Amino acid sequence: MAHIWPIGGGKGGSGKSFLTSSLGRLLAAMGKKTLLVDLDLGSANLHTLLDVPYPEKSFSDFIRRKIPRLEDVVLSTPVPNLYIISGAHDTLDIANLPYEQKSKTLRAIARLDYDWIMLDLGAGTSFNTLDFFLISQNSIFVTTPEPTSIENVYRLVRSIYFRRIRQYFTATEFKALEQEVTRKFGEGSFNKPDCIIQTIKTTHPDKGELLESDFNSFKFKLVLNQLRRHDNIALGAQICKIIEKHLGFHIEFAGNVAFDDRVHDAICQRVSFLERYPYTRTAYDLRELSKNIAQSGSQQLLLRYS
Ligand SMILES: Nc1ncnc2c1ncn2[C@@H]1O[C@H](COP(=O)(O)OP(=O)(O)OP(=O)(O)O)[C@@H](O)[C@H]1O
Ligand SMILES: [Mg+2]
Repeated sequence: MAHIWPIGGGKGGSGKSFLTSSLGRLLAAMGKKTLLVDLDLGSANLHTLLDVPYPEKSFSDFIRRKIPRLEDVVLSTPVPNLYIISGAHDTLDIANLPYEQKSKTLRAIARLDYDWIMLDLGAGTSFNTLDFFLISQNSIFVTTPEPTSIENVYRLVRSIYFRRIRQYFTATEFKALEQEVTRKFGEGSFNKPDCIIQTIKTTHPDKGELLESDFNSFKFKLVLNQLRRHDNIALGAQICKIIEKHLGFHIEFAGNVAFDDRVHDAICQRVSFLERYPYTRTAYDLRELSKNIAQSGSQQLLLRYS
């Protein structure tokens, strides 16, 4: 079964697509058959980062049933072992995918035959986007050191947490849960993970146990991208501690990726940064990150959507 890694971050421009393409190149170079799926529909640009000519087929052909099987919209790239599903030409927004199409896509992704699948999810916290994160236990969250970016990544992780809880309940049950939490802990407490989990454990012990086991099985990783020379190198680990404290599950700090002006140059010249500038700090950081991800053990899929 493929290792599926959704990649996201709360904010545009933090480097999700650059990291997705770089990690894809590095995993492919390790001999892993790797697929990158550009789900940042509307502003899809992974193909450009991989120097794939303007794609003749894309994700929307699958959604619009022009191409019935998701595997048939896969394109090869100039990099051996590296494949892409492009989101180009899409006027679709993943946030607006109807329920049936979302479920169909999630199932189709889970069935694809690759060693590694990375989903570039773009910014945003629509329910659909959150469900794509929840397809697997793994996720990579990207932030820059800027407080706005950190705020957004925290909001995204928190939204995923709440979405997971929501997936276990029908609308009526969820409403009743909200009332019970508010009755027990007061106004505003339905925002507090602790109060919700405590209540679920008493009102729905079976679901409480399943949720706890889900949260324990999450292998979330945080990457701090575009770290400049005077930035705090411990910031990433501090963010992880805060998330752990407030949401009660572990998120691993997977590493810093240094800022380098030559990333811009490589993108403009449509060449691989890793190949053109292999001896930079940024390239070193990316290689370390890819090793960290490649070493992450097996996973079980968490497909569950309501
Ligand atoms: N480590 C880095 N050092 C310097 N520049 C970087 C680095 N990572 C990304 N960038 C720059 O940041 C810009 C945005 O990167 P990218 O397109 O990967 O972000 P994104 O998070 O995918 O954005 P969007 O949400 O718009 O899709 C790029 O133009 C790239 O030049
Ligand atoms: Mg992007």
